[in-house]
Amino acid sequence: MSVEDYIDRYSAAPGATVETVDALLRLADFREKVERVCEIGAGSGRYAARVIISEYPDTYEIYETAGDWLPRLRSLPNVVLQPADGHTLSATPSGSVDLVHAHKVFVYLPLVVTIGYLDEMARVVRPGGIVAFDVVNEDCLDDQMTKNWVSSRATLYGMISRSWLLERLAQHGLSLVGSHFVPLSGGRTELLVFRRA
Ligand SMILES: C[S@@+](CC[C@H](N)C(=O)[O-])C[C@H]1O[C@@H](n2cnc3c(N)ncnc32)[C@H](O)[C@@H]1O
Repeated sequence: MSVEDYIDRYSAAPGATVETVDALLRLADFREKVERVCEIGAGSGRYAARVIISEYPDTYEIYETAGDWLPRLRSLPNVVLQPADGHTLSATPSGSVDLVHAHKVFVYLPLVVTIGYLDEMARVVRPGGIVAFDVVNEDCLDDQMTKNWVSSRATLYGMISRSWLLERLAQHGLSLVGSHFVPLSGGRTELLVFRRA
């Protein structure tokens, strides 16, 4: 069994990784070859592997702070492991990537770190390129999810306002092209996909 299938089954969400990447790429609607991709917090590389198989980017940059995942990530085609300081994309030039994304990362990070990364994502994406990430926002936290999290004492997660995010990213020239809900521990996150003007 592949690592991505194992993680999907372990999280009681079979097929979620493939479905998420396919939704992202459908919304991104790349018309030209995807040359450079950048991912924050790739973990096992389950999203990276799917993007690489689908788009064959020349370079797939990864910023990952957990050293134990690095050997596995290094083995993926065209991956460049960038020095991860935990809050910037400092090794990536401005306006250089076609797609910069993060999955199941901003649901855990302190708000100020997420905001810093969002500013960096807006900096590194090229005009016409795509910024994508998932968060827990007010459209995710329905009664059932709230109940599940309270009863399981899910203290790890943080919420971020959807309207605030859209306004802040708009200030960087990023407009929402669409979204997709993704399962997360008895609830869901919303994957938001933006295009830079
Ligand atoms: C919940 S895991 C998600 C992994 C992968 N994106 C997935 O969905 O399978 C969060 C990942 O973000 C990484 N991470 C945590 N803090 C980070 C930071 N400040 N900068 C970059 N990566 C970080 C963790 O090491 C971990 O691999």
